Amino acid sequence: MKTPIGIFDSGYGGLTVFAAIAELLPQYDYVYLGDNARAPYGNRSFETIHQYTLQAIKWLFDKGCPLVVLACNTASAKALSELQQQDLPCIAPENRVLGVIRPTAEIIGNYTSTGHIGILGTKGTIASGAYKVEIHKFFPDLQVHSQACPLWVPLIETNEYTQPGAQFFIDKYLEALLSQHSAIDVLLLACTHYPLLIPHIRQYTGNAIKVVAQGGIVAHSLADYLHRHPEMETRLTTNGTAQFYTTDDPTDFNTHATLFYGKPITAMGAHLS
Ligand code: DGL
Repeated sequence: MKTPIGIFDSGYGGLTVFAAIAELLPQYDYVYLGDNARAPYGNRSFETIHQYTLQAIKWLFDKGCPLVVLACNTASAKALSELQQQDLPCIAPENRVLGVIRPTAEIIGNYTSTGHIGILGTKGTIASGAYKVEIHKFFPDLQVHSQACPLWVPLIETNEYTQPGAQFFIDKYLEALLSQHSAIDVLLLACTHYPLLIPHIRQYTGNAIKVVAQGGIVAHSLADYLHRHPEMETRLTTNGTAQFYTTDDPTDFNTHATLFYGKPITAMGAHLS
C-alpha cells in the first residue's frame, strides 16, 4: 500500500509549489488534489475556507496520506491553525498538515537589504494578516507592506494575463504596493498563481527589486521537515509516483494544469463531502 504525501490547493496554483517539491524530492509518492469546483478561495470567509480545507484534508487522509502540504496561501492563512489545533487531534492525531506561510516567513527577511518587504496575495491572505504575524516572529524589525490583488487569479485562470490590456491590472497593484514605501526592495508572491506573472511584474519593477516565489522555499522546508521527523519520513513510500485529482472536470484541469506544472498531467475526478 502506498502512503503518499498529499498536496492540496484550491485549484491549479498549488501545482507551481508541487513542481518544485517533485523536483527536489522526486523519490516520494504524491497525491495532488485541486478543489477547482469551488475555487477561487481568495475572497471566501474563514468558515467556508476552513470547511472546504477540512474536507480536502480528510479526503487525502483517506487516500493514505499521513502528511499533507497546504500548497495554498489562502487556506494556509485562514484554515491551517484551526486544522492543526482543533481538527487534527480529533480526526487523525498521528497525521500532519503543513502550510506555506511559516516556511516563507522563516526566510524572507534574508532577502532584503533595506528591511522593507512587500507582500502580494489574495484578499483573504492579506486581510488575515497571517504573513505579518509569522514574519515578525522571525524578523521583528522587518517592515512588512502588503497589497491584495483580487484580479490577478482571474486574469491567470482565464489566460487573459498574456493579453496586452492585462499589464494595466498588473501594474495597478504593484504601484499601490510600491507607493507605500520607497525602500521596498523585495516583493513576495504570496499566492501560488503569481509566479506565472513574474515576467510581467519585472516589466514594471525592472531588476532593482527582488521578486520571490515560494515553490523552492516550501520544497526545501519540506525536505528539512522530513529530515527532522524520521517518524514521519519512514511512513512515506518512495516509488516516485504522482496522482492528480480535481473536484471539477478532469479534462478541463488537464488543459490548464500544464501551464502551472510545466508538464502534461492526467487528472482524475474527486468528490469531497
Ligand atoms: N491558491 C490560492 C493562494 O495561494 C490562490 C487561488 C485562490 O484564491 O483560490 O492563495
